[in-house]
Amino acid sequence: MNELPFRHVAIVVFGASGDLAKKMTYPALFSLMANNMLPKDRTHFIGAARSKYKMEDFHKKISSGIKSSDQQVLSKFLEKCPYISLSAYDDGPSYQRLDSEIAKLESQSTGSGKNLRVYYIALPPSVFGDVSENLRKYAWHKEGINRIIVEKPYGKDYQSAKVLSNKLASLFTEEEVFRIDHYLGKDSVKSVLPLRFGANPFLSSTWSREHVQYVTVNFKEAFGAEGRGGYFDEFGIIRDVMQNHLMQWIILAGMERPNSLSVKDIHQAKLKFINDCRPVRPSDVIIGQYTASSKDPNKKAYKDDETVKKDSKASTFATAVLYIDNDRWRDVPFVIRCGKALDETRAELTLHYKTPPDSLFPSESGRTGTTFTIRDHPEKSHVLTATTKKPGRGFTVLNAPLSIDFSNPKYTDSYVPTAYEVLIYDAVRGDHTWFVPREEAEEAWRVWDDAIKNSESRNPLKYEYGSEGPKEEKDLLKQLGVEFE
Ligand code: NDP
Ligand code: BG6
Repeated sequence: MNELPFRHVAIVVFGASGDLAKKMTYPALFSLMANNMLPKDRTHFIGAARSKYKMEDFHKKISSGIKSSDQQVLSKFLEKCPYISLSAYDDGPSYQRLDSEIAKLESQSTGSGKNLRVYYIALPPSVFGDVSENLRKYAWHKEGINRIIVEKPYGKDYQSAKVLSNKLASLFTEEEVFRIDHYLGKDSVKSVLPLRFGANPFLSSTWSREHVQYVTVNFKEAFGAEGRGGYFDEFGIIRDVMQNHLMQWIILAGMERPNSLSVKDIHQAKLKFINDCRPVRPSDVIIGQYTASSKDPNKKAYKDDETVKKDSKASTFATAVLYIDNDRWRDVPFVIRCGKALDETRAELTLHYKTPPDSLFPSESGRTGTTFTIRDHPEKSHVLTATTKKPGRGFTVLNAPLSIDFSNPKYTDSYVPTAYEVLIYDAVRGDHTWFVPREEAEEAWRVWDDAIKNSESRNPLKYEYGSEGPKEEKDLLKQLGVEFE
């Protein structure tokens, strides 16, 4: 399976003590290793952060996020996972220690080819700059290949994204930088391309304002931001998922057909779409923050988390409306909802079709038109609803789902990598297609800057942990004539 031409592969996880590292990065690295995607005898996964751990405690921590029934495979993986405690993210000598640790592992390798170092920055954006500078100065392999994976959000706004870009450009070549958005590693998100540009004329010919009344993205999580205040409280939900993950989904769903699937053509089509996006109006945004559940004492208010400021105004829920100024989408609202601590976990993008004015069969449910949904949570599926005849006398009609559920083994290979596995492997191979290029990362802020800044001057509306979100959202949806599924 693996023909990676490297003498040694070092994947360094900055922020190895954090939530992302435990939940996503280490499990992805483990799976890549267990599925022979990386050279077993020549790869190490080095954790780095300020927290101090005994090695055994660090291994316990990262194993708790890994699902493996084979203890032997897990132990072998952990042997490849050293941890280095840094004094601070701007402390030069800490990076010198890191460099010598990696150099030692490289010198012990018996492989041939160049050494590869992939630095994965799973840290809050406030420290991306310091880490990059010190890496370049002290831990960039002079003869080897170096890559840096930068997590979202990319900066905090348009201005800081530009500053970050300039900093990265002064230190690294664009080839060395991989701006990750794990939604671009998801099959549900990428499947928009074959659905639209494959061989589905019934979808491609109706994918526009002529037939679509509105588009919704519904992202709900039944859990809160527990323990993540160090990062989340400064950023809030719009920067956490809307400006990047959900925006990427919309970009692929809305962009024009790329000339080919080459990295250049895909990036060009994506950028063109963002350029056509109108900045979101502050009045088109509702924000909320969760309060404690009245039913479950374990479901505490956002502000009761010890990692969160007591007077925090960070939003944990938002609904916003985006318009695209081009011939395909003019005046079609893209309504995006995202929230933590809600009644369910769901992530889906839905096209809501217009009811043709001459339809002979208005739906019994009173709902306007049919829908097409691409779902990532709770299951990975595509669901097209179609108006059809309800069995029985007369011509009563209903909107019935015609669906594919990808959990059916018929549709999948035995090994389906997670989004992180896909993207980390792409970065190791040096493929930029599903990473975010500089200009796109900056432009995405142009669309959201005003709305985010305005939302931060407001008090978020309250909603209870486990509820559907702030009641006031209904007014906005009513005004727009929009219904979520
Ligand atoms: P955490 O809050 O868990 O932070 C990760 C680590 O960063 C911490 O363990 C801590 O390590 C260090 N840290 C936290 N706050 C600060 C601070 N203010 N200054 C310096 N260091 C700090 O965050 P996540 O792991 O959740 O997120 C990290 C990055 O990954 C973010 O950019 C986020 O957007 C992104 N991400 C997160 C996902 C998730 O599900 N968690 C999913 C996708 C992306 P120490 O104190 O040991 O140095
Ligand atoms: C991360 C956010 O980027 O994406 C988290 O920081 C969020 O807050 C996560 O929970 C959602 O990812 P997924 O793949 O579970 O939808």
